[in-house]
Amino acid sequence: MNYFEKKKIKDILEDKIDNYKDVIVMGWVRTKRVSKNIAFIEINDGSTLKNLQLVILSPDEHPLAEINRGASIKVKGYLDKVEGREQDVEMKAEEIEIIGEAPEDFILQKKRHSFEFLREIAHLRARTNTFGVVNRFRSKMSYAVHEYFYNKDFKYIHTPIITSGDAEGAGEVFKVTTLDFDNLPLTDAGQIDYNQDFFAEETGLTVSGQLEAELLATALGDVYTFGPTFRAENSNTSRHASEFWMIEPEMAFCNLEEMMTLMEDFIKNLFKFAVEEAEEEMDFFNKWIDEGRRDMIKNIIESDFGRVTYTEAIEILENSDHDFEFPVKWGIDLQSEHERYLTEKHFQKPIMVYNYPKEIKAFYMRQNDDRKTVAAVDCLVPGVGEIIGGSQREERYEELKNRMEELNMDLEKYEWFLDIRKYGSVPHSGFGLGFERLLMYLSGMQNIRDVISFPRTPGSAKF
Ligand code: 4AD
Ligand code: MG
Repeated sequence: MNYFEKKKIKDILEDKIDNYKDVIVMGWVRTKRVSKNIAFIEINDGSTLKNLQLVILSPDEHPLAEINRGASIKVKGYLDKVEGREQDVEMKAEEIEIIGEAPEDFILQKKRHSFEFLREIAHLRARTNTFGVVNRFRSKMSYAVHEYFYNKDFKYIHTPIITSGDAEGAGEVFKVTTLDFDNLPLTDAGQIDYNQDFFAEETGLTVSGQLEAELLATALGDVYTFGPTFRAENSNTSRHASEFWMIEPEMAFCNLEEMMTLMEDFIKNLFKFAVEEAEEEMDFFNKWIDEGRRDMIKNIIESDFGRVTYTEAIEILENSDHDFEFPVKWGIDLQSEHERYLTEKHFQKPIMVYNYPKEIKAFYMRQNDDRKTVAAVDCLVPGVGEIIGGSQREERYEELKNRMEELNMDLEKYEWFLDIRKYGSVPHSGFGLGFERLLMYLSGMQNIRDVISFPRTPGSAKF
């Protein structure tokens, strides 16, 4: 059989195939109903949420008894138009071949399982309606990211996953080593001798591709990364994963203001793509996960994001009569409850908060003239909180060096990072969008574990 002879259910239901005879479909059985003279099987092949209805006119001639829910089958037959039903095509099955049986203890029987339970069987959950939709949605939105940047002539770059630095300086790096834990080589001072490790220095999994993206932006102009990032942050929340995907554009000759414009345009384009190109998925989320989600997303496309400085945001919080668990005062890092108040109660739409105190932000951010704040921006959305963090970068060699010294960073280790400030330095800016946070926002799914196929979180790395 030629690969292209096999038809996808999506194409069949969308009436995209020309020959209605001798069609071959392969998929997994969802339901089966057998009576004396006729049988019906619904199969799903993962190409769409919808199942294809198979009609079997002489049940006795087929191995129907062995075909249970979950089994994989190959069916040959012809397509028939039908009227007055949800789907206007069904397939009259002429030959049915069992590819893989599914014993009756197949766990996904026709009943609704909780998301908590489905996380424990993540190896099978993509075969449910919800997680089929989630996985297809992830795929489509990934495409949307690439399409957006391709059309803007950004270069898609690949930054390393194993690094010797901590881009965010937050100390949340997973170590990468081949040293023998039972026999660690020590220096004379009694410390672990990383010279004897695989890379001859201490290395870990990247927390962000930004630093390398900056190197390439100052050569290629506009670039972006889209890859996995890792954080050994021990926060067991519904919004944090230890491995998540981040989209990080980095633009040369670009300041904070210009970057915020791009940020908003990017988000709105992704939302537009979701509504227009991922109709089936948005319909599903709107019906089963959060009613009204689609209209909410549409409204955002039409309206402007709020823009507010950190200092103004603090004033809003101080002047509110809301009782916060974490007291508000200038200089604090905004907690989730503060972010939620701002975006859900006060602005009631996505907002960009910018110019944060330098003490609570990363070393590479550009210092403002007040010498107290840096040109950082976070994009906050209702329900999810922070989905983007970004900044204009410190492009002045001396300023950056001083800041790194203040923070006791090893300058030698970051010589290359300082170098691009030495030779043809330019104002440049970039941000990181958490892909899972974006998916949560668009879908209304409440837990990050349910928008990534195989989540890694503290205490959990199965599958
Ligand atoms: O704010 P963050 O830490 O910024 C950076 O890493 C910058 N280097 C980005 C840049 O300027 N190029 O992370 C960016 C985004 C957050 O806004 C959030 O959406 C997501 O990444 N994120 C997480 N998503 C899931 N689980 C986690 N543990 C996350 N940590 C950050
Ligand atoms: Mg952040």
